[in-house]
Amino acid sequence: MSENVHPKATSVAELEIAAGEKLSAFAREYISHPGEGGQTYRDNCQAFKRYRLLPRNLRDVNIRDTSVTVLGAKLHFPVAIAPTAAHKFAHGDAELATAKGAAAMNTLMVLSSWSHHPLEQVAEAAPRGVHWFYMLFYRDRGRMKRLLERAERAGYAAIVLTVDSPIGPFSLRRKPVVFPEQIRLPNVWLDDVVPGPAGSLEHDWGLTRIVKNGATWEDVTWIKNNTRLPVVLKGILSAGDARIAVDLGVAGIYVSNHGGREQDGVPATIDVLPDIVRAVGGEAEVYLDGGVRTGTDVLKALALGARCVFIGRPALWGLALNGAEGVQQVLQVLKDELSLAMARAGCAKISDIEPSLVVHESYYLYRQLFNHSGKVNNKILKSKY
Ligand SMILES: Cc1cc2nc3c(=O)[nH]c(=O)nc-3n(C[C@H](O)[C@H](O)[C@H](O)COP(=O)(O)O)c2cc1C
Repeated sequence: MSENVHPKATSVAELEIAAGEKLSAFAREYISHPGEGGQTYRDNCQAFKRYRLLPRNLRDVNIRDTSVTVLGAKLHFPVAIAPTAAHKFAHGDAELATAKGAAAMNTLMVLSSWSHHPLEQVAEAAPRGVHWFYMLFYRDRGRMKRLLERAERAGYAAIVLTVDSPIGPFSLRRKPVVFPEQIRLPNVWLDDVVPGPAGSLEHDWGLTRIVKNGATWEDVTWIKNNTRLPVVLKGILSAGDARIAVDLGVAGIYVSNHGGREQDGVPATIDVLPDIVRAVGGEAEVYLDGGVRTGTDVLKALALGARCVFIGRPALWGLALNGAEGVQQVLQVLKDELSLAMARAGCAKISDIEPSLVVHESYYLYRQLFNHSGKVNNKILKSKY
């Protein structure tokens, strides 16, 4: 890594502050905004702190292996890059730099359809990287078929369908937005005439003509039947939806609430994870994003059943700070923190991370209130509550 890498930042929290100083007001608002009311965004982060770690000691943890396989691809550690739109707002090299940063750390990146660079260029920029493509639902299935074929030809390893945004943001905008950067969307507009600059109302109306709002399970089935690639559903929060997806043969259940940017007031992802893992019953891989900021967050998510976690905003903070190397720095911080947390928890490899490693804080409240036979401890109840 070059000396340009932010020298002082040794945690994601510090990288966020440093990125905030570098980003334009527009980009800071766009990237770091906590969503409508901010409740879900805050809860995503705070919920991790409500789980306590219960380490096992006296195990040989001198040599640790953080590697995992995700849909058959080997990653050096279980932290990957979530799909986020418009990396150009964070850095001139946009998604090309993010892909290089992820590949340098031997992890995977999900490319958003809302990217400035064509999906082929992003794959070529980091040929050793593992790439997944987040595709939108379109009204015209021919358009979807062409995109699926392009992703297959370019070497993408999975198709991600985001299912928690039934109404695209462009359908809701009533005022144009003037972007500080010219944004191209070559994975949305194929050989179409682009109706005005991104952010203009003409452009938004054009999008509402091609993008399908309110997609259903029938669209998922069609996509599954029209690609050779495994399909991952992102934005699952209920055990019921997870079960339907598994029964349809979906390969990955990606627990997410869009980082609080869609419906505010939905639960923190770490809180819904155990129920989803139980419903999936090992028939698909389960992933999680939302509020992952430290190595212990990663450890807790893995203990509760996630195979891999994804980061959204933190990758963009790294990108804003220093392009590909900044992305690499954020990932390196999380990898190092995870490795240390594993050592302290008595885990030499990922498969040593077990559910018994994590206890929700409510357990200790319960233990205080009820004695071992399950009877209320009146003394504590009267003195404390
Ligand atoms: C600026 C920004 C743009 C995003 N764009 C997309 C997108 O195009 N598609 C998508 O499925 N999710 C999108 N997301 C949501 C992320 O994939 C991810 O779910 C969320 O950022 C995870 O939370 P975190 O930022 O706390 O890590 C976006 C998030 C941010 C912050």
